[in-house]
Amino acid sequence: MTTTAAQQLLLGADAAGQPIGHLLRLANRHGLIAGATGTGKTVTMQRLAEAFSDAGVAVFAADIKGDFCGIAAVGEPQGKVAERIASMPWLEHQPQAYPVSIWDVYGETGHPLRTTISAMGPLLLGNLLELTDSQQAVLYTAFQVADREGLLLLDLKDLKALLNHLREQPQVLGDDRALYTTQSANALQRKLATLEQQGGDSLFGEPALQLDDVLRIDRDGRGRIHMLDASRLVHQAPKIYATFLLWLLSELFEQLPERGDADKPLLVLFFDEAHLLFNGTPKALRDRLEQVVRLIRSKGVGVYFVTQSPADLPDAVLAQLGMRIQHGLRAFTAKEQKSLKAVADGFRPNPDINTLQVLTELGIGEALYGGIDAKGTPAMVQRVSIAPPQSRLGPLFDSERAELIRTSPLLGYYEKAFDRISAYEILAERAEQQTQDAPATPAAATQSKTAPSAAGGMTDMLGDLAGQVYKSTLRQAVNQISRQIVRGILGSITGKR
Ligand SMILES: Nc1ncnc2c1ncn2[C@@H]1O[C@H](COP(=O)(O)OP(=O)(O)OP(=O)(O)O)[C@@H](O)[C@H]1O
Ligand SMILES: [Mg+2]
Repeated sequence: MTTTAAQQLLLGADAAGQPIGHLLRLANRHGLIAGATGTGKTVTMQRLAEAFSDAGVAVFAADIKGDFCGIAAVGEPQGKVAERIASMPWLEHQPQAYPVSIWDVYGETGHPLRTTISAMGPLLLGNLLELTDSQQAVLYTAFQVADREGLLLLDLKDLKALLNHLREQPQVLGDDRALYTTQSANALQRKLATLEQQGGDSLFGEPALQLDDVLRIDRDGRGRIHMLDASRLVHQAPKIYATFLLWLLSELFEQLPERGDADKPLLVLFFDEAHLLFNGTPKALRDRLEQVVRLIRSKGVGVYFVTQSPADLPDAVLAQLGMRIQHGLRAFTAKEQKSLKAVADGFRPNPDINTLQVLTELGIGEALYGGIDAKGTPAMVQRVSIAPPQSRLGPLFDSERAELIRTSPLLGYYEKAFDRISAYEILAERAEQQTQDAPATPAAATQSKTAPSAAGGMTDMLGDLAGQVYKSTLRQAVNQISRQIVRGILGSITGKR
């Protein structure tokens, strides 16, 4: 067991060698694990993930350097690690492997991880593509038209087909026409092509990630640890990495019901390389993210950011944290001294600790811990020696990885991609129908010049002769999404899908 008194996440030993824990009931108040490189952030994350899993809380975490995946293997403590365990006589250290499922956006080293264009919504997609305001406006109009015409946007090919549709039939834009410029639309198309080259096409499609699969608890009562293998992704396409995590956050926010007081969170997310999440995000998105982070805790989701410096997070996020674990920092330059001071000031002072001084003295696997008390108010800063994980410190062997994937309870469903009828297919069919009808009946040809009008896109379309043909196709598509499309806080479609 890694929880003490069943209510605490055991972190390690305080300065007097006594156990120190964090209230599980308040673990939905988010946290931060910070510190210079090599000071023990990933090991602390591993320790915490184990404690959450033991407490029956599902975990989603990214593995950036390939060293976190060791959580799926039994630990074999030796040397300094064994010494540290021995220094904590009260620690019930039981080497064990944790239940892990591996996910991979590229679909190569884990279950393919996908979402759809519709679910991501225009705001996050704009962030992913790093759009200018006018390009973002074009994307908005595209989503508007898709919503109006009931065109499902699942993969990149759907979005590209839709943009071609707008170019060829600008009248479908209706009142949004003022927002659309050909130049920006072309630039948007080029950015989509770049995204495709980075492997973005594998992120979009079906089957999309089902939140239920992430929230499910294992038969032995432990929370499953969903590990995003991000080693290639973070380097090759950091924006895809960041935007996917933001999507996951917003999706959880939109889909999960409000939860009253609970004895533990439903799910915790560990966002490593957290600076990537907020770097260069447009203000509109940043504002909404801050709001989502604030509100998601009432849905039982705790977010733990892992990054080198607290300054990598917006102040509004820092202000909400219920847990700060600060590993050692170096401060040589005047600028570093100044930021050190800011980090120290983030903790509630403890008369027994010179926070500023201790920050530079902390050894590997040691940290300053600022938690919250039972009432939720900040507790005094404490020095903590983090208890070593019960799983392996270090990577998995390739054979172990393969075995993990082979025995995953999720194996099968995500491995088979499918491509149901969506914007691309509908628009292609429509175009074909139009070329067939045009020469045959002059009346239909003139009509197709004016219709479908933006105002009644779908009715006009269904009214004409050709409409009969794809009526059923369209109805099928429209029925797949909720009848009334409601876009949520981040522009993704909300409601039951
Ligand atoms: N709590 C701990 N108990 C025992 N050893 C530890 C502990 N924390 C860290 N170590 C040792 O320090 C090494 C580096 O730790 P870790 O990989 O967590 O650093 P990091 O801060 O994540 O570094 P980076 O910024 O490079 O990702 C570990 O491989 C391990 O050997
Ligand atoms: Mg690390």
